Amino acid sequence: MTEDTHEGASPPEPGATARPDGGAEPADEPTADVTLDPWGSASVGDYADLFAEFGIEAFDDVADDVTDPHYLMRRGVIFGHREYDAVAEAMANGEPFAALSGFMPTGDPHIGHKLVFDELIWHQQQGGDVFGLIADLEAHSARGMSWSEIDDHARDYLLSLLALGFDAEDGELYRQSDNREVQDLAFELGSKANFSEFEAIYGFDGETNISHMQSVVTQTADILYPQLVDEPKPTVIPVGPDQDPHVRLTRDLAVRMRYFKVTEAFASFELDDDERGLVRAAYDALAADADDPDAADVRCVRAAEWLADYEPPAEPASLAAAKPTALEKLRAGGKEPLRPRVRFLDRNATDEAFEALIEAVEGEKRVFDEHVDAFDLTREEAEALAREVELDHDGFGFRQPSSIYHRFISGLTGGKMSSSIPASHISLLDAPEDGYDKVKAATTGGRSTAEEQRELGGEADECPVYELYAYLLAGDDDELTKTVYSECVNGERLCGGCKEQAAELMSEFLADHQEKRAEAEAVLEDLDIDLDSDRRGTGGEH
Ligand code: TRP
Ligand code: SF4
Repeated sequence: MTEDTHEGASPPEPGATARPDGGAEPADEPTADVTLDPWGSASVGDYADLFAEFGIEAFDDVADDVTDPHYLMRRGVIFGHREYDAVAEAMANGEPFAALSGFMPTGDPHIGHKLVFDELIWHQQQGGDVFGLIADLEAHSARGMSWSEIDDHARDYLLSLLALGFDAEDGELYRQSDNREVQDLAFELGSKANFSEFEAIYGFDGETNISHMQSVVTQTADILYPQLVDEPKPTVIPVGPDQDPHVRLTRDLAVRMRYFKVTEAFASFELDDDERGLVRAAYDALAADADDPDAADVRCVRAAEWLADYEPPAEPASLAAAKPTALEKLRAGGKEPLRPRVRFLDRNATDEAFEALIEAVEGEKRVFDEHVDAFDLTREEAEALAREVELDHDGFGFRQPSSIYHRFISGLTGGKMSSSIPASHISLLDAPEDGYDKVKAATTGGRSTAEEQRELGGEADECPVYELYAYLLAGDDDELTKTVYSECVNGERLCGGCKEQAAELMSEFLADHQEKRAEAEAVLEDLDIDLDSDRRGTGGEH
């Protein structure tokens, strides 16, 4: 192997370790504050911050629920999620689930988009209903792209998605501007969101153009759209973490749209989650003492006496903090008996829907102005019933959407991959020779001399070339990533040869991909998707 020049090699990161599969563990600088800006620059200092700061969960926690995980999951490229367990479970049980993602047609599709294309295709192969959309309203309103540019780029995204294996007969491709159902849904969802919220989430202000705001509600409609088709179902949105604000907003709107909220209660008054935990503890303890626990006569005052002497567990701290209010409510309840029940709270229901729900509750029930209590239903049965009644009465019955988040690929020249720096990224339309050259010219995690490299090993965790192997070039072949990684860090691999191998693979990939794109032309032709927009206008800017 020949020697190479290395720019950007940084000192060893003590925390960096190889994952068992050869993928890289995070070795990023910790940053104090992270922001997720869907229209800003897509870079994240430390992915771990996203867990604490935004409540994104570590993918590792659900990885075991996925029967045959994709290589991006195995290698830690997909690092986070929200409620992916719901999707994994549906997948494992052969129940309906969906996946959807969208692409802003502002430039050429590149190898970063390929991650998302692959994630969609994989979910399709696992049996999901899969949707890919062109975010043309967003590109026009937030990026000021003209309609003819949008048409051209849209074609390129779709061809690559098809070339990589998306089955357009099985799944659905659409552009936002052509999807009437999405726009109608956006209008409905918009009535549950307000401007202050957009200010807080996106930093919108008095200068933000209105169509840009409309593109946000359109995206929330995109995300819920799979649930309009057939029935509400677990849906995963594979995206970069910059899109998480949209996912969070949509999860909130999905709840706000519901007709009923199902909770558990013990008496006529309302309890919050912590208070409910305490009252449950009191009820369980006292009922267990009764001769017949099912017919136990546990009065509120008695439960208050019990709770007064009870020491709640230290964690979560909110439990102990809820004791005074729980006591107050129980004392106010006086002689009212405690009886576990599920409660349907009327959130948004029409009068007819509320009436229909009351009718539909089986067994013992008690009807109040704004809620119905059911004594013979489990929580799950109640949830299912609430959704069924809502669907029968012109409601949507949405489930909260799930999401998975992938790491951003580093730029080949160090720093972040940017479409404005051609050498930093590889477009799926790059000629194979150009892809080859870009890889050969890439920054590495190598040492300044071959000797040093043999002695200290390279820094695969800091190396954009290693990332190319892990994210794309090795495909499903874990052995290859493991070999590259261990040979690199053990000093058995020098960058010249390593890049030569990667550059060859890249050029083969591009040649093959472009051949498949050419074949996909005919498929695209036959699809019911208009790539010759007759819209007019100039669009706004962010
Ligand atoms: N906002 C996304 C982007 O910037 C595009 C998008 C529109 C999208 N609708 C979506 C992504 C729905 C995921 C789901 O690329
Ligand atoms: Fe060099 Fe390859 Fe190691 Fe990167 S992975 S530092 S290119 S040997």
